[in-house]
Amino acid sequence: METLHVETETKQYPVFIGNEIITDLSPFIKELKPVVTSVLILSDKTVSALYMDNVIEALQGLDLPVHTFVVPNGDGEKSFSNYYNSLTFALENGLDRNSLILALGGGMIGDLAGFVAGTYMRGIRFIQIPTTLLAHDSAVGGKTGINHPLGKNMVGVFHQPEAVFYSINFLDTLPLTELRSGFAEVIKHALIQDEEFYNYLKEEISDLSDIQLENLSHILKKGISIKAEVVSQDEKEKGLRAILNFGHTLGHAIESESGYGTISHGDAVAIGMRFALKLSEELGNTNLHYKEISNWLKQFNYPGVPFQLDAMRLLSAMKRDKKSTSGHVKMVLLEAIGQPYVKEVSDSILLDALQKFLLTDKEQ
Ligand SMILES: NC(=O)c1ccc[n+]([C@@H]2O[C@H](COP(=O)([O-])OP(=O)(O)OC[C@H]3O[C@@H](n4cnc5c(N)ncnc54)[C@H](O)[C@@H]3O)[C@@H](O)[C@H]2O)c1
Repeated sequence: METLHVETETKQYPVFIGNEIITDLSPFIKELKPVVTSVLILSDKTVSALYMDNVIEALQGLDLPVHTFVVPNGDGEKSFSNYYNSLTFALENGLDRNSLILALGGGMIGDLAGFVAGTYMRGIRFIQIPTTLLAHDSAVGGKTGINHPLGKNMVGVFHQPEAVFYSINFLDTLPLTELRSGFAEVIKHALIQDEEFYNYLKEEISDLSDIQLENLSHILKKGISIKAEVVSQDEKEKGLRAILNFGHTLGHAIESESGYGTISHGDAVAIGMRFALKLSEELGNTNLHYKEISNWLKQFNYPGVPFQLDAMRLLSAMKRDKKSTSGHVKMVLLEAIGQPYVKEVSDSILLDALQKFLLTDKEQ
């Protein structure tokens, strides 16, 4: 088992990564102060069917009331109604301020359960138990929340977990499309912060369906370390943390305009990263080998921009993004691999770049 440490202004917590580490959950919970009075495991249908029993079994030595609440799966379920229903369930089952929530699932559950924990009785403790590759990103850093029909992740709070338990064996059942989605965030971390890691990925990973345990473990550790480092310097996104949005400005626009859940988060981010790379080259007069990176991404079958979306519609959605200020879009761009910067880009430049990008993207 490997332990990483996340240190933010408000909290320090461990991230445990390893095979079958869920067995270490009980001893960790036992040590928490104040003493935990009850546990609520929040999960989605698919993950619950696969791993809920493992987690319940791992809690048996605790002698605590353990409740489970399961929502349907899919990003559309990061909703007001599931948030409300989870709170109602928690109240009906007598969760108090010393109860603990376990978020068992991917980023959707992590965000929803974290938001429930962050707001129930003005905030109770929670632990992330990620089950997707993408969650190496979402489980660390304390951003929690739900979607509003008018925008993704528009309602939420910063609420750091007590710990993250990454039991790698839980990823065994992850469909290839979900691995690909998570891998996009891994690539993002490499591109914004670590050229050596990017080269490692390019050399070592060519087929996600055949990813070796040691590679997966290395990828998780590297990705989490990068995320943890950024978050430790800027917990509440006052500056540096914005670089984590590389690929997300267009990515979020694609997700919301296609309808949440229609395209996976990582697939949308992969398109957004390609666009950001192209724009970086155009505006920065740099050579980021857009074509080479783009071809490498294609190897994993990341999709192109959905056909029904045009440049004007995407621009409007980008302007609604909460990272835009007074309707101006801020893009995370790269000077070189590992050297990101944030730039406000005018509507006319963006529209032009989007039109060109869509044209070539749909031609490919
Ligand atoms: N809070 C943050 O900092 C942050 C960062 C990035 C992404 N996110 C959010 O994360 C979400 C996306 O996360 P995700 O891709 O993990 O999505 P997800 O949680 O919806 O999981 C994707 C699908 O995989 C299934 N699944 C999960 N684990 C599985 C397993 N081990 N075996 C089989 N199936 C499994 C789920 O049931 C679901 O159908 C988005 O809502 C995004 O906004 C949050």
